Amino acid sequence: MTHLSVAEIERVMASMPEAISNTFGQGQPANYIPALAGIDSGKFGMAISTVDGRDFVCGDATEMFSIQSISKVFNLSMAISHMGEELFDRVGVEPSGTAFNSLSQLEYENGIPRNPFINAGALVVTDALLGHVTSPKQEFLSFVRGLANNIDVHYDEEVFRSEYDNGQRNTALANYLKSFGNLNNHVSRVLDFYFYQCSLSMSCQDLARAFRFLAQDGKHPYKDKQVVSKRKARRINSLMMTCGTYDEAGEFAFNVGLPCKSGVGGGIVAIIPGEMSICVWSPELGTKGNSLPGTEALKYFVEQTGHSVF
Ligand code: DON
Repeated sequence: MTHLSVAEIERVMASMPEAISNTFGQGQPANYIPALAGIDSGKFGMAISTVDGRDFVCGDATEMFSIQSISKVFNLSMAISHMGEELFDRVGVEPSGTAFNSLSQLEYENGIPRNPFINAGALVVTDALLGHVTSPKQEFLSFVRGLANNIDVHYDEEVFRSEYDNGQRNTALANYLKSFGNLNNHVSRVLDFYFYQCSLSMSCQDLARAFRFLAQDGKHPYKDKQVVSKRKARRINSLMMTCGTYDEAGEFAFNVGLPCKSGVGGGIVAIIPGEMSICVWSPELGTKGNSLPGTEALKYFVEQTGHSVF
């Protein structure tokens, strides 16, 4: 049960556009993936999905956008639903304190990425997941569609191409991992599946619904089964808290105090364990790759409701 009343959630959602209005015009959409650069930067959406099955939306909450690194949580969840914690022999659980696409840390830490949410870590998780699926892309898409309860969740070919054509850093990371013996599959197979995951399009409403399992001890939001065990859900939440927003994770914990995961498409998902999942979206990013209006919206929500894990 959420402890917040419907009226309280509706009040905060209604005042949100005004509360964050002064954050527009201070950042810019991701430009290293050209297909993301042309997006209307004035967009803002927010959706909430509560553990008792209520949905709340505001602004552009039903518009699809590129989920980008938010996919890293689906990737990790799917991988650890298939395997045990031996995954963490290949990828760490520490915040990186470096950019999400940093190469240097990987070299001096001998090819073991700091965590599953930086690009290098997600490439390792992608490689591990490849060992447990027969039709990787179809199974990944159907996993996410099931969580969101929406068959309109789809893969965006243009974003995928754009990433592939401009994926020199990710290619370098994958080659580095391979040289350290931390990729089992061919580099191109891992990159292809990784870019596919990042290229899914979903709305705030889809993402809030899809992430609800992390607010309810790993239970599937729409089916009578576990997505991951309670223990694994706790671990994913803690990784989101410490690593989900890259080298801004400390500030997120300080200012928002919720497990969060961002993507350079401008989406951020946040979890209030036992209560709800939240998704905000707005394309203008700050220097660390997190949506500025989205960050402000989460801060405002927590300040107004007093609900965070602290
Ligand atoms: O691999 C990349 O660089 C992008 N597909 C994803 C990066 C991302 O979303 C980082 N998040 N803030």
